[in-house]
Amino acid sequence: MNSGDPKRVPIGVFDSGLGGLHILSALRDLLPEADLIYFGDSARSPYGPRPAGEVREFSVAIARYLIRKWGIAMLVVGCNTASAAALDTLKAEFDIPVIGVIEAGSRAARAASPSGRVGVIGTVGTIAAGAYQRLLEDLELVCQACPGVVEFVERGETNSEQLEILLERLLEPVRIEAPDVLLLGCTHYPYVAKAISRAVGESVVLISSAEETAFEVRGYELANRSCGGETIFLCTGDPESFVRVGARLYGSELKSVQVVDLAELEGE
Ligand code: DGL
Repeated sequence: MNSGDPKRVPIGVFDSGLGGLHILSALRDLLPEADLIYFGDSARSPYGPRPAGEVREFSVAIARYLIRKWGIAMLVVGCNTASAAALDTLKAEFDIPVIGVIEAGSRAARAASPSGRVGVIGTVGTIAAGAYQRLLEDLELVCQACPGVVEFVERGETNSEQLEILLERLLEPVRIEAPDVLLLGCTHYPYVAKAISRAVGESVVLISSAEETAFEVRGYELANRSCGGETIFLCTGDPESFVRVGARLYGSELKSVQVVDLAELEGE
């Protein structure tokens, strides 16, 4: 894909692991002719419990690698934790468009809640960073970190009793507050939306940032150029599990999977 052909303008999407596939699906639907490169940092997932500075370092190295090795012309940070920790740095450091998911998710939640009673759930890192709280400060917000949920999704356990028990416990405060909209502020969560819905009550409308992010990307002329419509998958961890669980979540086979050695990233 990195052919040096100026007409090929691949868009890079990254996440700590498989959650960003949810963003990738929305991009693929909206931009069928774009070349997309998905990077899942599965060897270092989850990002949520890590210090913001570390997530920032990982994000900068991934961006540098995708620009140098794959010639990406735009970067989508398909991870709330990385968007919260690193978006400003990435925008300042690289001269390609960098799009995060937090502004898009906030817009989607605001639009979906006429009463302004909104819940936001995310990783410990995302909720602690306070980015949603700042963008939605005029609304009646209930924010809740959900540690441990990403790990279930990464191993493909999206429908188990243990997951239900964990979600019921973590989401009790949200259920009590009963917002009318709940923003899934982690790209892994849409994959366990049914269990989340049971835990908070089925009248709460669940919202993700995916479509709004994809619309934002489509607003850039370069994202609309006719490329090969190719998708390449990169991961840093075990490719067998990435391919197996990833195909289930993405809804189709992950073709063209390549493993990126962490040493190569550390050199960035
Ligand atoms: N999917 C990510 C997010 O949106 C990362 C979760 C994690 O690795 O903890 O926050």
